[in-house]
Amino acid sequence: MSKLPDEFTALVVSQTPGNQTPEKTTASTIQHVLPSDLPAGDVTIRVAYSSLNYKDALAIGGHPGVVRRFPHVPGIDAAGTVVASDSPSYTAGQKVLVTGFDLGAGSWGGYSEYIRVPANWVVPLPAGLTAREAMIFGTAGFTAAQSLSAIEAHGVGPEDGELLVTGATGGVGSLAVAMAARAGYQVVAATGKSDAHAWLEQLGAARIVDRHECTDESGRPLLGAKWAGAIDTVGGAMLTTALRSTALHGCVTCCGMVAGDEINVSIFPFILRGVALVGIDSAWFASARRGALWQRMAGPWRPADLEALVCSTTSLEGLDDYVHQIRAGKIRGRVVVEIAGE
Ligand SMILES: NC(=O)c1ccc[n+]([C@@H]2O[C@H](COP(=O)([O-])OP(=O)(O)OC[C@H]3O[C@@H](n4cnc5c(N)ncnc54)[C@H](OP(=O)(O)O)[C@@H]3O)[C@@H](O)[C@H]2O)c1
Repeated sequence: MSKLPDEFTALVVSQTPGNQTPEKTTASTIQHVLPSDLPAGDVTIRVAYSSLNYKDALAIGGHPGVVRRFPHVPGIDAAGTVVASDSPSYTAGQKVLVTGFDLGAGSWGGYSEYIRVPANWVVPLPAGLTAREAMIFGTAGFTAAQSLSAIEAHGVGPEDGELLVTGATGGVGSLAVAMAARAGYQVVAATGKSDAHAWLEQLGAARIVDRHECTDESGRPLLGAKWAGAIDTVGGAMLTTALRSTALHGCVTCCGMVAGDEINVSIFPFILRGVALVGIDSAWFASARRGALWQRMAGPWRPADLEALVCSTTSLEGLDDYVHQIRAGKIRGRVVVEIAGE
């Protein structure tokens, strides 16, 4: 077993007890921690890169829906090198990645030079993908890939018509645009950012629409059938509009809630058009199926220019600014977090 250093650094979120308002009592600081602070687990990994997802921003704010106890180390993504393993599936020196499960939510996360996790959380880094590139994808890309895979599994192919992606400049949205375009779909990107149209076209969008055009609050149970399918990343009225605008036997996936966690929709899209609504949960996606999906992300679905999806690369010290931006829906693409580097 490789020896861990006597101490290393991690971003630690603490909460002052006694106040009911988490945002006001929560502080995140970079601290020196000890190897003995790491949780029990099979595989110890030196983290080269992590990333910033919307859920990480919630965790840094101490959101009770994400963080279950304090002090907490956030970071739902990590890619790096195995330094010690009690599992026969992994050996020291192997390049790996971890996304989801309880990483950075209920347990110690990737904003740390070292993590220790159960073996079934670990995925070997696909050939041709560096740790940094894996974190350009991160949970956002994995969620987008799951969404695309669900559309495909439902039988909606590129020949069936346009595929809508909402929240198109966000982490999940931008990777969905880029990967669906690579898979041959005519992608319509819905965005609230009027200055991002050229960038979305560069990623592969065939057409851009303003977010408001995809938000119908008329209450009509069905709208004109526009989309063969939709990858919704924002929820709320945009999701209900997508469901009501999807053509016969189409498929809509749903993963996010930045625009609302409730939907108000009649059963008509489902019983008159046979539209399917597929929920996406990337955190607990079966371990046995993860490797195959990552192979598609690193292979046929790999965006033509993965680096074009990077909004910024930051250290843990510089993360705060991007946390505010992602909470405000202002990030374009992905923020990569450099921990120990390659
Ligand atoms: N289920 C899962 O497993 C899973 C996994 C990953 C993420 N998620 C969820 O998916 C959502 C997106 O995550 P992300 O990491 O991609 O976040 P993100 O990078 O912040 O992207 C969200 C995008 O949504 C759009 N948006 C923001 N506020 C909006 C509003 N009020 N109305 C309509 N659109 C709005 C913006 O894009 P435009 O400006 O281009 O419109 C924004 O960039 C989050 O709710 C996240 O928690 C779920």
